[in-house]
Amino acid sequence: MQKPSILFTGIFGAFAISVGAMVLIPHTQLASLQPQVTWDEGANSPSDIYPHERSATGREVYVAEGCFYCHSQQVRDPQYGPDTERGWGSRRTVARDYIYEDVPLLGSQRLGPDFANFGWTAKVAQKDGSEKTVSMWRNEHEDDSKKPAARNERWIYQHLYNPRTLFSDSKCPSYRYLFETKEIGEKPSPNAVAHNAKFQIVPTHEAERLAQYLLSLDRSHELKEAPTAIKPKEAKK
Ligand code: HEC
Repeated sequence: MQKPSILFTGIFGAFAISVGAMVLIPHTQLASLQPQVTWDEGANSPSDIYPHERSATGREVYVAEGCFYCHSQQVRDPQYGPDTERGWGSRRTVARDYIYEDVPLLGSQRLGPDFANFGWTAKVAQKDGSEKTVSMWRNEHEDDSKKPAARNERWIYQHLYNPRTLFSDSKCPSYRYLFETKEIGEKPSPNAVAHNAKFQIVPTHEAERLAQYLLSLDRSHELKEAPTAIKPKEAKK
């Protein structure tokens, strides 16, 4: 009878250690995590800082289309990789960034760029003393032939409809079924990706929500456990 009890103790022990290490210890470390709201930056509520509520339906489209299979949403600490150098974020991402997300879309591999901060913008002082809001994500060098003039909604629609028109060797799938052909009213819609004299190809409601979701992704606010590694003025121009 001694052997079965050793076996039972072993199985139970392995189970108890796993639950302790993977459930209980993380729970004690993270369960009491609170959102950090920097009131002095003009934020009125957590949703001003955390992107969770800005485009919930767009997030559903992002999940349904499986964008997270190739695009992660996590920025590594500068000492573990060049993510901040690539312009993917101003700092590493931490647990507090995902506090409102039921299932954080961290992703497990990167075939395309990380999207944790796709909609990151910053106010940058101009020579004449005024301030201009500029897109900071992937802030490529001005001379980079592949740098888009702006990563706005219209550019996202073009990329979504056929990435190969923008990057000839793009491995990003095209999502043509998120577009529909409509008759042109007075003039083509500014969001149309193609048109002839009578018809235009315009984004569906899903594509619009998806673009808004991408542009809502901004986790550049400073957190006490993750200080800003790249300030706008230091970022690559
Ligand atoms: C099979 C892998 C894969 C999937 C799935 C995928 N992408 Fe991509 N994506 C890529 C790769 C690789 C690139 C880099 C090449 C490029 O920019 O076209 C990219 C680039 C992009 C870019 C341009 C980024 C830039 O440089 O500005 C956007 C926007 C984008 N993807 C959106 C999406 C969206 C939205 C989805 C889901 C509807 C999606 N991708 C699904 C692989 C993928």
